[in-house]
Amino acid sequence: MKIDGQTALVTGANRGLGRHIAEQLRDRGAKVYAGARNPQSVDLEGVTPIALDITDPASVATAADATGDVSILINNAGSSTGASLLTGDLADIHLELDTHFFGTLSVIRAFAPQLGAHDSSAVLNILSVLSWISFPQSGAYCAAKSASWSLTNALRQELAPRGTRVSALHVGYMDTDMVRHVDAPKSGPAGIARIALDGIEAGSYEIVADETAKAVLAGLSGGVAALYPQLP
Ligand SMILES: NC(=O)c1ccc[n+]([C@@H]2O[C@H](COP(=O)([O-])OP(=O)(O)OC[C@H]3O[C@@H](n4cnc5c(N)ncnc54)[C@H](OP(=O)(O)O)[C@@H]3O)[C@@H](O)[C@H]2O)c1
Repeated sequence: MKIDGQTALVTGANRGLGRHIAEQLRDRGAKVYAGARNPQSVDLEGVTPIALDITDPASVATAADATGDVSILINNAGSSTGASLLTGDLADIHLELDTHFFGTLSVIRAFAPQLGAHDSSAVLNILSVLSWISFPQSGAYCAAKSASWSLTNALRQELAPRGTRVSALHVGYMDTDMVRHVDAPKSGPAGIARIALDGIEAGSYEIVADETAKAVLAGLSGGVAALYPQLP
């Protein structure tokens, strides 16, 4: 798919990775709807801000009604509560699932008709290495990203007959607000945005965006012993 001339919607486009993706979609010639809970916080020139809280069904429906011509949907919006599954606040665990799983799902369901109205269209779900490996200190986030990967695999089969290709991007740490508190090597979000859009143009189903993601993907075939060597 060529991005030039497409109409794209990015969720969580007001900051972080989503802002870079919206900016680069614009620069590659797409018309861009920049979804944000507060559309006034969208500071990019040449895009159309649109109110969109992915956990609010009414907001999702209003955004779908306000567009109508979207051919590229980027599900980028995400939360990170740092909740442990064992000891975390259940409200935080619900928030992770409501955002990454139910939010992403409700946006795809709402936009599927307009995506399917094009001969070919694309959905990209921004996932993580944490779809594949779990850190107990943020187990709720990991569970939500895993669920979102499963959603991706089911919907890519259901939407393929309509010409909608559903992709996922997996990446380790990126230098955004979400992990500002983490002291570890991080990728620049502008570079990851470029890899994401190249992946859409190449028609890649799985976009494995950095060395961390490549290593974890390779580790899956080694099972629990390879992924969690600290276990007795
Ligand atoms: N940073 C990393 O290390 C990393 C690694 C792997 C994957 N990811 C994933 O990358 C994506 C982008 O994250 P980021 O790193 O750019 O984080 P970020 O800078 O914290 O940005 C998160 C974005 O999501 C939006 N958002 C959160 N809940 C929302 C909701 N209910 N409805 C609409 N928008 C909502 C935020 O909007 P507000 O401004 O309104 O809060 C913000 O625009 C997420 O899916 C995240 O899980 C991040």
